[in-house]
Amino acid sequence: LSLGETIVRPELFEVEGVAVIKPIASIWDQVWKFKARPDDVLIATYAKAGTTWTQEIVDMVQQNGDTEKCKRETTYKRHPFLEWFLPEPPSARYSGLELAEAMPSPRTIKTHLPAQLLPPSFWEQNCKIIYVARNAKDNLVSYYHFHRMNKGLPDPGTWEEFVEKFMTGKVLWGSWYDHVKGWWKAKDKHRILYLFYEDMKENPKQEIQKIAKFLEKDLSEEVLNKIVHNTSFEVMKENPMANYTKDFQGIMDHSVSPFMRKGTVADWKNHFTVAQNEKFDEDYKKKMSDTSLVFRAEL
Ligand code: A3P
Repeated sequence: LSLGETIVRPELFEVEGVAVIKPIASIWDQVWKFKARPDDVLIATYAKAGTTWTQEIVDMVQQNGDTEKCKRETTYKRHPFLEWFLPEPPSARYSGLELAEAMPSPRTIKTHLPAQLLPPSFWEQNCKIIYVARNAKDNLVSYYHFHRMNKGLPDPGTWEEFVEKFMTGKVLWGSWYDHVKGWWKAKDKHRILYLFYEDMKENPKQEIQKIAKFLEKDLSEEVLNKIVHNTSFEVMKENPMANYTKDFQGIMDHSVSPFMRKGTVADWKNHFTVAQNEKFDEDYKKKMSDTSLVFRAEL
């Protein structure tokens, strides 16, 4: 931030029953009217499901493993974050819509919107969409720490309070349960590659290959291995173009919790009490009883 600028955490505001921050709600008409182009690739996720990781993989695949090309800009600027709108403070202003509109094709765009709120032009243009989902408990833990370190998001409250808000969907981008189920359903009708964070962690090479195939890219074994290495948590954590240390300065405080925090599966075990876990599981069963979608919360 520039001298004298302060940041006030935004409040939530509902769009079609889904909570977003007020600035996004204020430009919702423009988001909804966004004009996708047929060669746009969309990376869609619930926040903290592994978006940045997937963005780095996709970029590396598109650049045929050229790490220098992938360092042309930060993740946040390489791939417009469709609905994100931060009008204030001036030095940190960001408009995903403006960035996307000004970007020459082919574009790769990021969104956290639930399927029912995706601008219809993405469906009309039959754009390729990569959706990544992460098990609820790890997603929740990651989201909690992210709220703590990021003043661009509402105050998370205590851990107990945040768990409650997550379970009732009273968090930014709404219900995790509706999000993963909605996109799971959408994949039967549209060009969607539905991936899981846990699979990517377990067998990155295999999942990267799926992405390459989906993007119709033929990669040599050497390039593939290079992508596996450069998109590992350890390497990305040290990559200033991918670890968010260059964007949101004064808004994200990595000393509270780094953006590249742990990058593991089952960290929820270090957060949930036994009672919390039981309550969460019981509620989870009800909310997920109407889907064939299955998650792994440990490897
Ligand atoms: P943790 O908070 O559990 O560490 P998003 O990009 O959607 O905001 O997701 C961020 C989460 O993905 C964070 O999870 C972050 O550490 C993790 N992550 C980022 N890059 C990763 C990588 N290369 N491998 C595994 N996890 C990664």
